[in-house]
Amino acid sequence: MANGNTSLRERLSEATDKLASSSFVESVLRPGSPFKKGYSDSPRNRSYVIMNNVLYHLHPVKVKRHGVKLSYTLCLGGLSFFLFILLTITGIFLMFYYAPTVENAYTDVAALSTSVAFGSLVRNMHRWGAHLMVLVVFLHMSRVFYHGAYKPPREFNWVVGVILLLLTLLLSFTGYLLPWDQLALWAVTVGTNMAGFVPVFGAQVKFALLAGAEVTAGTILRWYVLHVLFFPFIIVLFMAVHFWRVRKDGGISGPL
Ligand code: HEM
Repeated sequence: MANGNTSLRERLSEATDKLASSSFVESVLRPGSPFKKGYSDSPRNRSYVIMNNVLYHLHPVKVKRHGVKLSYTLCLGGLSFFLFILLTITGIFLMFYYAPTVENAYTDVAALSTSVAFGSLVRNMHRWGAHLMVLVVFLHMSRVFYHGAYKPPREFNWVVGVILLLLTLLLSFTGYLLPWDQLALWAVTVGTNMAGFVPVFGAQVKFALLAGAEVTAGTILRWYVLHVLFFPFIIVLFMAVHFWRVRKDGGISGPL
């Protein structure tokens, strides 16, 4: 029995060795992978594990001690990102049950609470998550300001951050019209009237936002596309630059 076990183990390790040295596995694994043949637990290989992994490489190989302290960043940037992911997932769920037309929008949203399994829960997660994201992004900005992290060399990332705040507000506001209820109609009427007072291009900005002179069927389609496609796409681009710059500017600022 003992002999049988040993030979089975030997055969297994032979098979895994063969697999590990096959050109297919070689092509998938990056240098430093613990699954690579001949891997040793050296400091260089430990660094490679972080650098060469699609998920880990966002993190620096070495971090300053204060940078991982929860009390320094309060994880507010990470929470902003988490909320964005949550909003994307719940938003995709809502898209299955919502058509951006004058005839369907209001009843589709109402049906989420009455006829869709978990509809009310997911809708409220999306709505409250959006409010929370605006608050958390603002708190993150306040934390960055308090620590003076906008100073050189991080001025550019502060500007990217301001654009992210603007995009967060625009995402929230374009979602506001979609339930097509009285609150939505009048909020958007007030908002776009305010946009009409933008210097020089006010009338053009208002017209572009409304897809006409007032809130109509064209407006709901325009805001839907802006909300589910255009602004999410732009914010993902700016987030990628934002995270990349945190790394390139030397990691988290501080300590105070
Ligand atoms: C969607 C919005 C945003 C997301 C997802 C986001 C995400 C992050 C993350 C994950 C970090 C790493 C450390 C941390 O958690 O503090 C960070 C750092 C930073 N963020 Fe943001 N951020 C957003 C908006 C903003 C805004 C509105 C500003 C400022 C106007 C800003 C300016 C900065 C700066 C300067 C840093 C470097 C901080 C340091 O080194 O201490 N970010 N951001």
